[in-house]
Amino acid sequence: MAKSALLKSSLAKKYWMAFTGLFLGLFLVGHLFGNLQLLIPVSEGARDQFNEYALFMTTNPAVKVLSYLTYLSIIFHAIDGVLLTIHNRKARPQGYVNFKPSTNSMWSSRNMGILGTIILAFIVVHMTMFWGEMKFGGLDDTVYTTANGEEVKDLYTLTIKTFQDAQYGLLWAIAYAFAMLAIGFHLSHGFSSGFQSLGVNHPKYNGFIKKLGMAFAVLVPLAFAVIPFYIHFVLEKI
Ligand code: HEM
Repeated sequence: MAKSALLKSSLAKKYWMAFTGLFLGLFLVGHLFGNLQLLIPVSEGARDQFNEYALFMTTNPAVKVLSYLTYLSIIFHAIDGVLLTIHNRKARPQGYVNFKPSTNSMWSSRNMGILGTIILAFIVVHMTMFWGEMKFGGLDDTVYTTANGEEVKDLYTLTIKTFQDAQYGLLWAIAYAFAMLAIGFHLSHGFSSGFQSLGVNHPKYNGFIKKLGMAFAVLVPLAFAVIPFYIHFVLEKI
């Protein structure tokens, strides 16, 4: 391939990485707000509310489109990430005496591939635990009618019981917190780098985008990480 074509394809990869990455960031905010409902004190109402929300998320046509875009983005972002990591490895200037990556760049920016792999593993396990049960019949025998007369699957009880389990609940909470740490580091580089790849690169705004990215990278994963511990230690047992 000619050098300019190579450069173009690697620029296109970076562009799509950024686009899918920032879209997944939006998904995270929406998902976080949905999950915050799990903090409501245990009651029939809390169970109905979460299960009706989950039903809406899996049946509303507009949300369905967004969900398919989310799955596609995860797959595309992961494949593109692997290709970019291989490309960057090959282009690395190994032999230079002054090549000291640790002094020139952040740890997270040099380990986006490893962080991404941990996150992908988390997503596979996580979706198998909840989304897979909801979609592929695991919750079919939990269907009941809510106070509003809606037929729902009891995803609420499955989620709460997972983190309240006497044997594995705390281990799950710790595993989730570890994955959220990886997401935090991934976002601490990815957020501002995504804007740069999309061409939002101006001395007037770069500082603000960096700070916003850091705030996002700390607050969103932290809020996610708190939920399983809250369910385990604070929420009434069901
Ligand atoms: C405390 C942390 C979390 C909890 C308790 C949780 C819980 C759930 C539950 C109950 C579902 C199935 C119902 C639904 O779609 O809302 C789900 C779906 C999903 N979760 Fe999470 N989640 C957490 C964090 C995350 C994180 C950090 C990610 C991404 C890195 C993620 C990615 C997904 C995806 C991709 C789906 C499928 C969504 C769809 O079908 O549109 N989750 N989660």
